[in-house]
Amino acid sequence: MARAQYKIFLADYLNPLNDKTCSWVRQGALVARLRSDGSYKWCFIGKEKEALALYGQKPDIEVCEFPGGIISPGFYDMHFHWVQDEVRTMPKDSLLKWLSEYTWPHEAKFKSLDFTKKKAKTFSNDLLKAGTIGGACYASIHGHSVDWALKEFKGDYIVGNVLMTMNSPKYLTQTKSQALKLIKSKSNKYLKKYAMTPRFAPTTHPEVMTEGSQVAKKNKSFIQTHLSETKNEINYVLGLYKEHKGFEKVKSYTEIYKKCGLLGPRTIMGHGIHLSKDELTMLSKSKTAVAHCPTSNAPVKDLGLGSGLFDFKKVEKAGVRWALATDIGGGPFLSMLDVIKSFVTQNKTKKVSGATYTKALYRATQAGAELLQLSKTRGNFQKNKLAHFIILEKPSLKKEDKAEDVLKRMLRGNRENLGELVSQTFLNGESVYQNN
Ligand code: GUN
Ligand code: FE
Repeated sequence: MARAQYKIFLADYLNPLNDKTCSWVRQGALVARLRSDGSYKWCFIGKEKEALALYGQKPDIEVCEFPGGIISPGFYDMHFHWVQDEVRTMPKDSLLKWLSEYTWPHEAKFKSLDFTKKKAKTFSNDLLKAGTIGGACYASIHGHSVDWALKEFKGDYIVGNVLMTMNSPKYLTQTKSQALKLIKSKSNKYLKKYAMTPRFAPTTHPEVMTEGSQVAKKNKSFIQTHLSETKNEINYVLGLYKEHKGFEKVKSYTEIYKKCGLLGPRTIMGHGIHLSKDELTMLSKSKTAVAHCPTSNAPVKDLGLGSGLFDFKKVEKAGVRWALATDIGGGPFLSMLDVIKSFVTQNKTKKVSGATYTKALYRATQAGAELLQLSKTRGNFQKNKLAHFIILEKPSLKKEDKAEDVLKRMLRGNRENLGELVSQTFLNGESVYQNN
């Protein structure tokens, strides 16, 4: 079927611009034009009336209306483990115990190619259903768990096989040369879509991190790992590295990664909750980013790992870039809407000001696209960006509501799975998921 020259999408819309500003337009319109490369890109963002006056008479136009919906940019989930869907709600009284008792035995199942293929297909749909259209993803140690994620997931993902060469169970341990071989083959093949992924300092030999970083940087691949998630973990890491030649004098967790050459503008550290001023300076100077995972860090009673509250003010003051993430399965929910709500409520409970819904939406969309270095064409609604968006269920609203009120009304109550508020997901002007 021939594709229309123009597509007009009519609904109220939210457009997150920065931490403080999110446009909220009632009876809005987003118009996309078909380009010669087959993409649909926005050519108009504004009011329905004006859009119809400008484009309504064009001969080749398709009009889509969403009367009960709100248009929003799709989400970027900047730290999640696609191989941990089944351990999201396992007991989490300690990070290291949860890893060794539930998570690692489950990740071992991805040794089977057949299991991996099947799961990649269903999980790909689960992402679209949640309104997630890109992000930074951890696979298992197995090379094919990277291949199948990149093959099946629709949108913009970077994916890496976790590197586990020490302090790991026998069934999930690679030799240093196996790990390096995998890094080289995947980074050479996938370039900017690959992320060199030491699981975290305890499980990956510094030689592998060092050589792996060089390969990643040469290919402009990304680098991702876990940093300072819990206090126990930090003590464990510093204790271990005291015994490593060349690391005897290291003072902090971040310094270990710095010494291995991991830091840089294409590096994303998961968590970063317990960081000193010096560590934040190292991250800021190297332009290293942090993925903040509120639902994973949440108290155990809320199905998180109880890791603590991320100090976004301190991180921002230090000039460190950050975006939101689910951390599936440390995080119990697939949906970035749960992450947004958790960010707001946890900060509110601790009486931290400035953690608004507006800010959280920005950090779940445009800020993620920025970390992926894709924000010129993705992340929010601006002319010449791609027609990627989602439809959210509209709550009952008041005329005077602002963006902050709209999000608050949408996410209030005790709904089990906020992801259900996503009724459709569009990539490049085409519907790729529709509920019911
Ligand atoms: N630290 C090392 N591995 C993991 C993991 O899989 N999940 C979380 N949350 N933290 C980690
Ligand atoms: Fe994680």
